[in-house]
Amino acid sequence: MFKVPDNCFQITVSNCQFCLWFSNFYTVVLFNLCNFNKMHTKKESEPHRKVVVVGAGSVGATYCYSLAQSGLADEIVLIDRNEDLVKGQVLDLVHGQPFFPMVDIRAGSEEDYADSQLVVVTAGAAQKPGETRLQLLKKNADIVGGIAETVARQECNGVMLIVSNPVDVLTYVALKRTGWESGRVIGSGTVLDSARFRHILGKHCDVDVHNVHAYFLGEHGDSEFAAWSMTHIAGIPVDEYCKVCGKCPGWKKERDLIEKQVRESAYHIINSKGSTYFAVGLALVKITSSILRKQNSVLTVSSFLSGEFGIKDVCLSVPCIISDRGVLKIIDSRLSTEELNSLHNSADILRKAIDSLEV
Ligand SMILES: NC(=O)c1ccc[n+]([C@@H]2O[C@H](COP(=O)([O-])OP(=O)(O)OC[C@H]3O[C@@H](n4cnc5c(N)ncnc54)[C@H](O)[C@@H]3O)[C@@H](O)[C@H]2O)c1
Repeated sequence: MFKVPDNCFQITVSNCQFCLWFSNFYTVVLFNLCNFNKMHTKKESEPHRKVVVVGAGSVGATYCYSLAQSGLADEIVLIDRNEDLVKGQVLDLVHGQPFFPMVDIRAGSEEDYADSQLVVVTAGAAQKPGETRLQLLKKNADIVGGIAETVARQECNGVMLIVSNPVDVLTYVALKRTGWESGRVIGSGTVLDSARFRHILGKHCDVDVHNVHAYFLGEHGDSEFAAWSMTHIAGIPVDEYCKVCGKCPGWKKERDLIEKQVRESAYHIINSKGSTYFAVGLALVKITSSILRKQNSVLTVSSFLSGEFGIKDVCLSVPCIISDRGVLKIIDSRLSTEELNSLHNSADILRKAIDSLEV
């Protein structure tokens, strides 16, 4: 039976037909109003959700824009070494406030790390045309390592999400510099690549992307790969689906092409417009949502492996359950022999990159 929520007032009506009709009508209106109210107001018992974003460039600002619209955060703090840029981005964002749920957006400083639930690091140099992610390594390791140390010094008790590239190595660097337990420092990893994979696969199969479950694993970079053994379309394994669909008899070749398309997506976008930021901004909101709302979403973030899949002491992307403490569980599932070899290949590449730094 419908129960009027505590934060709504109640009226009593008599037994006449009109009054009963009116009472039903009023109940429906009231119910919708209460739900709207619930969506846009916060209970006093709910924690204050504060997100600090370091790096106010294309990725940082696009993330803030999407995060503000999502209604997930109560406070969004933007930090960048370019103070003018922060000022401009904050002003531009707050002018949109009449069009999204209430959120305090402001420029901040390192003291803001202390009581934040999530610190998102997008600071660093962006990938230049023709530049590999690993070439960015040394430049960005110093920047992200320094930020991680500062966050830890402020005794932040939240989660740190690294986005700057090469994201897997920088996640490892940040983890070591904070000294935090491993699950609390994660990288955006292949969450974006998995989204690209789902989109391209959905288009190829003429199926709504929401009915495609698929993951890209390994390094967020050239050695990443599609986990076909975990791919499901319409709830059934992709091998079964291909038999039902019958669209491409030479499916091995088609799959190689799809995989290549996903792997090369970033290069195409960077060649056309200089950098990528829309889809990654949304991918970051999805990760944020799982952290702030304890959603336990399964996401291919970059996380520290300590023996899972036979890999130790690197950060790379495998399916993880994400909650308010970061990685709740790494899903150490069975991969095909070929996929496992690809994962180990990614781990070897990343190990070499880590060894080239003094972490
Ligand atoms: N992981 C992913 O899926 C993914 C996707 C796209 C981009 N990226 C990466 O995200 C990063 C940011 O990309 P972008 O396009 O926003 O670059 P950008 O150049 O537009 O912004 C980077 C910002 O970082 C700031 N910055 C540099 N050093 C800093 C420091 N020490 N403290 C505070 N701020 C500092 C710069 O002033 C700049 O505003 C790059 O490394 C890029 O490769 C990652």
